[in-house]
Amino acid sequence: MNTTIDPNHIPQRKLSTGEEIPCIGMGTFGSDRFTPEQVSAAVGGALRCGYRLFDCAAVYGNEDLIGQVFRQAFSEGVVRRKELFITTKVWNDMHGAGDVEKSCRKSLADLNLDYIDAFFMHWPFPNYHAPGCDGDARNPDSRPFHADEFMATWRQMEALADMGLARNLGMSSMTIPKLEAVLPLCRIKPTVIEMELHPSFQQPELLNYCIEKGIQPIAFCPIGSPTRPDRDKTEDDVVDIALPELVEIAEAHGVHPAIICLKWAMQRGQIPIPFSIHEAEYVSNLRSATEDPLTEDEMARIQAADKNCRLIKGQVFLWEGAKDWHDLWDENGTITK
Ligand SMILES: NC(=O)c1ccc[n+]([C@@H]2O[C@H](COP(=O)([O-])OP(=O)(O)OC[C@H]3O[C@@H](n4cnc5c(N)ncnc54)[C@H](OP(=O)(O)O)[C@@H]3O)[C@@H](O)[C@H]2O)c1
Repeated sequence: MNTTIDPNHIPQRKLSTGEEIPCIGMGTFGSDRFTPEQVSAAVGGALRCGYRLFDCAAVYGNEDLIGQVFRQAFSEGVVRRKELFITTKVWNDMHGAGDVEKSCRKSLADLNLDYIDAFFMHWPFPNYHAPGCDGDARNPDSRPFHADEFMATWRQMEALADMGLARNLGMSSMTIPKLEAVLPLCRIKPTVIEMELHPSFQQPELLNYCIEKGIQPIAFCPIGSPTRPDRDKTEDDVVDIALPELVEIAEAHGVHPAIICLKWAMQRGQIPIPFSIHEAEYVSNLRSATEDPLTEDEMARIQAADKNCRLIKGQVFLWEGAKDWHDLWDENGTITK
């Protein structure tokens, strides 16, 4: 198998700033099952195979090892810094005054970078859980979303852009009511937004809202996150790669259903950031951007397969008095207090 794909053959998307970003990248969350060594080795392999977009986060606990991989790749001439688009995120326990810059500088030091291409607010509230916790773990300090609190953190994000530490700012796991509350208040608006998107959870309203606002959606869990942490699994969850529509279309194209998830994502306009530590998988994931697109009929069949099945429900972020995880997602059109 040829494991190298010319990065120049990967289509690029334009952000509202005019800056380009690859239409597919690689995720780096080990999901509490893959070690930092396994993830960073995959990043090294992915760089050599042609990936140029990597989605990192402080809470993934592997940025220091990924940074070693970047340093080696730069020194060996595998890639130049300016050819990469690297993201990272401030974790929920670093929203306080002065903490966002601290978090960004720590990620930059760990990643061996002097600027980040996009810096995300990982979740829109300061509620956090310990890495690797159980699904029923709750933090007594958790509280509902509050626009003023969000903006106090966002002002710190804006300062990072002013300092040149972050080229783009991003939000993650937002809802339309929360965006309506904060976007008018932003001095520097987000150019990218991460959201859960896969065939069984298509979020068409949120996706279209972002596109209309000129914000590029980045799709996490693009394959339906089959290896997500056990705390994020429930009996009713749909398995995207087993959906009959996906399986049939995959057979017609002679590929794994995972590849159909990615082609659908890219053709729909979102940037998928699939994770895998397996070379054959991450090579075929990148290659999916370069060949054999889905037909309009296939796109329509997948669109009709939406099950509104959210996988990353976020129940570990619930506050005292909250009913259940639905409260995090403003499903009745207003921010749940
Ligand atoms: N902003 C946020 O809050 C947030 C939340 C979640 C995730 N993310 C980001 O999104 C990234 C991706 O999400 P994810 O890792 O949860 O899920 P995902 O990319 O949907 O699924 C990853 C799993 O899919 C399987 N896979 C990948 N490529 C495959 C292929 N070609 N054929 C067959 N199976 C394949 C692998 O499982 P096997 O090892 O079993 O093959 C892999 O572990 C994360 O790594 C992270 O960077 C961000």
